[in-house]
Parts: sequence; C-alpha cells; structure tokens
Amino acid sequence: MKILAIETSCDETSAAVVVDGVIKSNVVWSQVKLHKKWGGVVPSIAKRAHEERIDGIVKQAMEEAEIKKPDYVAVTVGPGLAIALEVGILKAKELCKKWGVPLVAVNHLEGHVLASAPKKEEWTPGLVLVVSGGHTELYLAEKIGRYKTLAKTVDDALGEALDKAAKMMDLGYPGGPVIERKAKLGDKNSFELPMPLKGRENEGRFSYSGLKTALLRLVEKEKLNGDLSEKTIQNLAASFQEACFEHLIRVVRAVSLPYLDGKIKHLLVGGGVIFNINLQAKLVELGRELEVEVNLPAEGILCGDNAGMIGLAAYQKVLRGEAVKEKDFDKIDRLPRWNLEKNF
Ligand code: KG4
Ligand code: ZN
Repeated sequence: MKILAIETSCDETSAAVVVDGVIKSNVVWSQVKLHKKWGGVVPSIAKRAHEERIDGIVKQAMEEAEIKKPDYVAVTVGPGLAIALEVGILKAKELCKKWGVPLVAVNHLEGHVLASAPKKEEWTPGLVLVVSGGHTELYLAEKIGRYKTLAKTVDDALGEALDKAAKMMDLGYPGGPVIERKAKLGDKNSFELPMPLKGRENEGRFSYSGLKTALLRLVEKEKLNGDLSEKTIQNLAASFQEACFEHLIRVVRAVSLPYLDGKIKHLLVGGGVIFNINLQAKLVELGRELEVEVNLPAEGILCGDNAGMIGLAAYQKVLRGEAVKEKDFDKIDRLPRWNLEKNF
C-alpha cells in the first residue's frame, strides 16, 4: 500500500511516501527563515510559501521513493493554521482526482504520536505525550485511533513558552533550540522561578503563563542593571527551561500513576520540543521510575513537523477503513482546532 502524505499545518512544507507502513521518503522544507524576522509564524506568509513550494516538494518525495502513482493521498486537515492547512488539502484533493485514488484526512497530533510508535511491538494501551509549539497534551491511547485526554495546557504550550522566553531575551525564533543552547552553558539553580500548580499536579493541567510572567520580571530587573550579559542570559535560559520541564514531568508523573496497572508498558513522546536532549533524558528517567518504556521518535526529522508521520497515521486509518472516496471530498475540510479525542 503506497501513500503519498502532505503536511502544511504550520511553517514546514512537507511531503512523504509511506509504503506498507514504512517511510520511504520524507522531504521537509522549513520556512523558518521567512518567519524569523517577525518573531513567529505569519499565517499569510506560510500560506504563500506552501503554495510556492508544494509541487516541487511532492515531486521530490515521489522521485526519492521511486513511485509514479500512490494508492492513497493523505493530508493533515488539523489542528493548525487554517489558511496553511487549506493549501495541503486543496493539493491532496487535486492529486486524488488526477490519479483516481481515495483521500485520507489525518490529525497532525496523531502523526506526532505515531512518529514514536515502536514498529514491532504492540504498544496500546499506552500513554502518549505531545509537546510542541501548539500543544502540550498527555493521552491514554486505548488503541491506535482512540485517545483519551489525561492532561493538557490551560494557557501556553511548552514550545510556545520557550519561543516567548527567547523573544523576551532577543534570542530570535524559534526559541526552543536557542534556549537549549544557552541553557547548556548556564546554571539552572541561579534564578528562582515558581513551580506552576504545585501540589495540584494530579488535576491534569499544564500551565506556562505564570512562568513566562515570572521570567519577564527577572529579565526586566536584570535590564535595569544594564544590558543582559551573556552569562545572565545563559542562567535565565537554564533556570526557565528547567522549571518548564520540571512542571511537565511532575504533571505527567502524577496523572499517569493511577493508570499504571501493569497493562501499560509504553510512553510515546513526540513533537518539536522533544528535540531537546535534556527533556529526552528527563523523560527517560521518568520512564525508569514509572517502569514504562519511553519511545522517542526514531530519527530527528520525526520530532518536528513532517509528512512522514502523517503517512504513518494515514496507514493506520486506511487499515481501519477510514479513507474517503471522491464523492465525499466535500466533507473533508480544514479543522484548525481538531481534538485528538475526536479522531475520525
Ligand atoms: O512540532 P513542531 O515542529 O511544530 C508544532 O506542531 O508546533 O514544534 C515546534 C516547537 C517550537 O516551539 C520550537 O521552539 C520547539 O518546538 N523546539 C524545541 C527544540 N527544537 C524545536 N524546543 C526545545 N528544544 C529544542 N531543541
Ligand atoms: Zn507539530
């Protein structure tokens, strides 16, 4: 079964070919340079860039996988930026009509989840954590395709908090990677930051806005004493990153515990923030404590947004009989706020 997958939900234009559940090609063109000077993703710029690049990226993915025509075309329909999603959806429908093949509408979050799924082992029921620029969510995967929310953010996503922190310190966009680099050289105990929702971790809520405000106050205070020195930036980055990750770990630990009845053996983690080596180590450590295997994306490219993961999710949907025929294409529309619990 050959699937061509397309992903345009945010600022990566990507196409991939997945054959029988295995990624054969995965072309990702990042628009980061276009958005950098604006300090974040500008939807209209993303839309135009997707439109300009999509044909070339699809062609490259097909050539690299050496296929002429797929059996299905899959596309991210949400969650994401509405006008960016639209570009991929229109392209997918156009290609389906050209080749006379069905369409598979994929949830971006399920892509992040399945990017970490072990290939040979059964992993459901299992726990699943997505940590990205738009989402910080923990789910119980009862089976592939059926997810129950256990915890989610009440304000910012973790990646978004890192992006905003970097902006406060004039470190550019995206913030996660630069905060990670600075944090490595800093002392995580140099600044005290409040632990969000301390003692209430089992309520299943992540919250990053309080930490962000606390960081802003520290930055302003330091600026009053003159320009931020490189050392101060490193220490602020280290302290902030540590507080963000510690809060994440505390909530995941508290919320997961009641579900660990011996049947759950895996915690799958995905999303752009999982690029972070320090976070990976913390999650692996938590896995040891909870006696679950922590599954990270098999390759770096699978942490961030990419169409390969969309193809993996599409493969499962086709097996479940969820591909859509041309007569029903009108029912497939962008779902900018699509919740993984309503994954159909
Ligand atoms: O999954 P992703 O590529 O896009 C969304 O679906 O949001 O995640 C992007 C997020 C951004 O907030 C970015 O700052 C963060 O992932 N990120 C990182 C790292 N690399 C990217 N956060 C922490 N450490 C990193 N190395
Ligand atoms: Zn993503």
